[in-house]
Amino acid sequence: LPLDSLQAAGGGPLYLRLRQTLEEAIRSGRLSKGTALPAERDLADYAHVSRVTVRKAVDDLVKDGLLTRRQGSGTFVAQPATRVEQPLSRLTSFTEDMASRGLQTTSEWLERGLFHPSPEEKMRLGLSAGALVARIGRLRIANDMPLAIERASLSTEFLPDPEVVTSSLYALLEKTDARPVRAIQRISACNVREPEAGLLGVPVGAAGLSIERISYLASGRVVEFTRSLYRGDAYDFVAELALGE
Ligand code: GLP
Repeated sequence: LPLDSLQAAGGGPLYLRLRQTLEEAIRSGRLSKGTALPAERDLADYAHVSRVTVRKAVDDLVKDGLLTRRQGSGTFVAQPATRVEQPLSRLTSFTEDMASRGLQTTSEWLERGLFHPSPEEKMRLGLSAGALVARIGRLRIANDMPLAIERASLSTEFLPDPEVVTSSLYALLEKTDARPVRAIQRISACNVREPEAGLLGVPVGAAGLSIERISYLASGRVVEFTRSLYRGDAYDFVAELALGE
């Protein structure tokens, strides 16, 4: 990257010149999609600018969706999501959905533990007074591509120790005969804000799909109340329709 000549390039604030150089490198493909950006300190040394300048330029590119910050792992050149076609008639888990497309699921933990429930969780899950709620919040990633943020709440009856969830929640529930067999799912449009935009690697204001799922056991008991935020540029939800009476 022609960063060492930034100071000499003249004209305009340094961070804008750095931003422009990085943007050109991304748009031309010299910095290819998915590549990790060097550490802030290294970039600053290399371009002979301060770390503040680097941070400003990078912040700008993150805001515009050209770069993605991933907590703990660094900053990457954003990649457009591959579109996923998701049927709306089957009760499947994220892990299963991705596996059926040959994609590997990983998750970044946003929260996991027992908490005092919100009034909504109490109502949705029918929790008794004083009961805690098991909550797991995850950034869900398929082959390095962040696709959704999901926050699931369950009664401790079904998930006494949230720490045991390390990969698929449904696979775990299956083992204790608590895998849901029916669910009501509501999908609505939204705009993605911070901090979710940063996590999903989309520009602030990008289109998102807000999805709420309440799932049930055969007995009618609620197992899970989950709110998710899916990338609007990654999902097509498809339902088969039949002629009604
Ligand atoms: C889907 C649903 C969630 C559910 C999750 C379980 O993404 N929208 O409501 O909690 O699947 O996925 P997994 O078994 O991969 O943890």
